[in-house]
Amino acid sequence: MLTLGIETSCDETSVALTDRRRVLSNCVTSSLRLHAKFGGVVPEIASRYHVEYINYVLASALRRAKKRLADVELVAVTKGPGLVGALLIGVSAAKALSLALGAPLVGVNHVLAHLYSVFLDHAARPKFPFIGLVVSGGHTSLYLCGDFDDVRLLGQTQDDALGEAYDKVAKILGLGFPGGPVIEKMASGAKGRAEPRFPRAYLEEGSLDFSFSGIKTAVLYYTRGAGRLSKSLIRGICSGFQDAALDVVVDKTLSACERHGVRQVVVGGGVSANNALRQKLFQAARGRGINAYFPDFKFCADNAAMIGLVGEELYRRGARSDLYMGVDSNLKL
Ligand code: KG4
Ligand code: ZN
Repeated sequence: MLTLGIETSCDETSVALTDRRRVLSNCVTSSLRLHAKFGGVVPEIASRYHVEYINYVLASALRRAKKRLADVELVAVTKGPGLVGALLIGVSAAKALSLALGAPLVGVNHVLAHLYSVFLDHAARPKFPFIGLVVSGGHTSLYLCGDFDDVRLLGQTQDDALGEAYDKVAKILGLGFPGGPVIEKMASGAKGRAEPRFPRAYLEEGSLDFSFSGIKTAVLYYTRGAGRLSKSLIRGICSGFQDAALDVVVDKTLSACERHGVRQVVVGGGVSANNALRQKLFQAARGRGINAYFPDFKFCADNAAMIGLVGEELYRRGARSDLYMGVDSNLKL
């Protein structure tokens, strides 16, 4: 089923053509560099960028897939969570296309799409049920996934998301925005063990929730007390922060597997591109007889292919949206 996916929840403007799990095209442009000097995404700038680029991105997605608009059989679009103004651009475009083409419309939850991006163009395929971990700039959550439309929340962050913690620590260290890739790079250049050692926040016994604000504050106080920051000290702080944050994420993910008797873990979201997370989870999972799956690197960040894939799977299970569909900045699963 030829599906046109549209994603505009934050700074990426993306349109993709997918057919089940096959990606025919996945075009992405981003306003990221326009936000860098503000240290975070400015909603109005993101919305204006979507308005300016959405038609170009749509045209290039069709061209790359060698398809015409008339070939499209289903329109899938992110309806939340995300920035309201940004979401509205994608949803308005999707409604117009659905109406003009007479193609059905399905609204997709962005977090669910991250969770299932592992299925895109991928050789190793997990089988349901599995534990899903979404680690992005806006979310850090664990799910028990029985099917595309059968997802139960097991735990989530009580304050900052993991990607947000990376971004805030990078800001404290003057490393720019976004923080994830640069912290990963600095941490990988650190010598020896991850030092200084920052606190691991496990919350109450047995909790599958997360908290990253304490470690961020610990980095802030450590940095204030350290005086001039040499490059090697910055590397050490990045490595110490990353090690502490990822230890908790990996431990809780594997605890969720054990608690629910599941032997597979699927990870998605922007932070799933992080190699230290991949290595830590692969290693710890292997020791417990659990298989871990990550999306292809090109599908870790926001993209429309994941929206098309989930839209089609939900459509096959009966999901339909109409032209009155709204957007929801806080959309829950
Ligand atoms: O999923 P995403 O593209 O957007 C949201 O839905 O939030 O995630 C963006 C987040 C940012 O916080 C960014 O710093 C983080 O993902 N990120 C990383 C890496 N690449 C992106 N965090 C750690 N390591 C990375 N390599
Ligand atoms: Zn995202």
